[in-house]
Amino acid sequence: MNLQIDGDRLYRELHDLGAISSEPAPVVTRVVFSEADMRARRFIKTLCAEAKLAVREDPVGNTFARWPGSEPELPPTATGSHIDAIPNAGLFDGCAGVLGGLEAIRALRRAGFRPRRSIELVVFTSEEPTRFGIGCFGSRMMAGAMGPTAGDMLRDAEGKSLDEARRAAGFRGELSEVRLQKDCYSAFLELHIEQGPLLEQKGLDIGVVSAIAGPATLRIEIQGEGGHAGAVLMPQRRDAFLAAAEIALAVEAAAKGTGAPDTVATTGICDIFPRAVNSIPSRVRMEIDVRDIDGTRRDGAIAQIEQAADAIASRRRLVLRREILNADPPAQSDAGLIAAVERACEAQNLTHERMISRAYHDSLFMSLIAPVAMIFIPCRGGVSHRPDEYSSPEAVAKGALALAETLAALSS
Ligand code: HGY
Ligand code: MN
Ligand code: MN
Repeated sequence: MNLQIDGDRLYRELHDLGAISSEPAPVVTRVVFSEADMRARRFIKTLCAEAKLAVREDPVGNTFARWPGSEPELPPTATGSHIDAIPNAGLFDGCAGVLGGLEAIRALRRAGFRPRRSIELVVFTSEEPTRFGIGCFGSRMMAGAMGPTAGDMLRDAEGKSLDEARRAAGFRGELSEVRLQKDCYSAFLELHIEQGPLLEQKGLDIGVVSAIAGPATLRIEIQGEGGHAGAVLMPQRRDAFLAAAEIALAVEAAAKGTGAPDTVATTGICDIFPRAVNSIPSRVRMEIDVRDIDGTRRDGAIAQIEQAADAIASRRRLVLRREILNADPPAQSDAGLIAAVERACEAQNLTHERMISRAYHDSLFMSLIAPVAMIFIPCRGGVSHRPDEYSSPEAVAKGALALAETLAALSS
């Protein structure tokens, strides 16, 4: 099939979407249900309507754009990703998969292809954990990994519940309607930037993802005793931040201690109260991200962090509360889909190699209800979650081409 990706249009749309942000360019910030997120959703839905796709949204804002196949009763072949962005992010994370998926569909149509199975583009709500503290709640609910009670349970920094936020954004219906049945899709494919340096270092066009690391989040709250930074002598202090500092080093030690390069841990949030230079920190809230492609090894690292935190708090006469917000199993890509992507790359003369994803994605949860695989494209220096995140027009177009070729094979 003579597949032609309109790389210029795709790249222009990526930049148009990137300009929809709560921060001035080149910073992209698009937190779920924010004004920027809602504008971005309208932008994508307009493009899908122009491509004559049937668009629907579910009660939590997951958006579905379907190209009906000749046998519409068959489970569709799906692709997609997310358009929400953490603060101070870039143009490509998630968006390359949404706009690349749309362009793959348009290219198939231009080539005269007619799918037997419908092809569905999915835009997941809130892949990022920014607002509600947990990532992928849109795909988690679709896959049944999170139930409707999350509507009241998940709350943002202002105490607003997910239910209140989604309804304020105009999404109606019950969260129980979000769940999709197993095998609702024949396959789910996600195009995404690698968010790592390997493809660029090896000069490869495509990464065929064989496994996705499992993320876990540990929240720790430490209660000490505040006081005047000048008046309270050191022996009398119960400084909550000093405990947090020791715990952050224990987080690093636990990740390095497994001896495996795949174990990573990050203290990404450390809020000090009352946050005044002349006041002893009385309270600290930490959030720690721990990941590995081996779930057991990851959970061992978490246990080590918990033990260290308890010992540090006890020695410093502080009160410590901790809870695990999520500890998700790693996912394996479907062997048949991996082979399909590799065949598509061969057909389109795209160099490729199998690799693991150290970032998590909606595919992690879609793997619970459908066979999945991911198509990675190189990004400069492996940089992501920063405004200088960059993938070249050629790389993005090649990713869309590999996706289009694979979708054609899977929906025929
Ligand atoms: O954190 C992640 O891996 C994803 O980018 N949300
Ligand atoms: Mn991300
Ligand atoms: Mn992403």
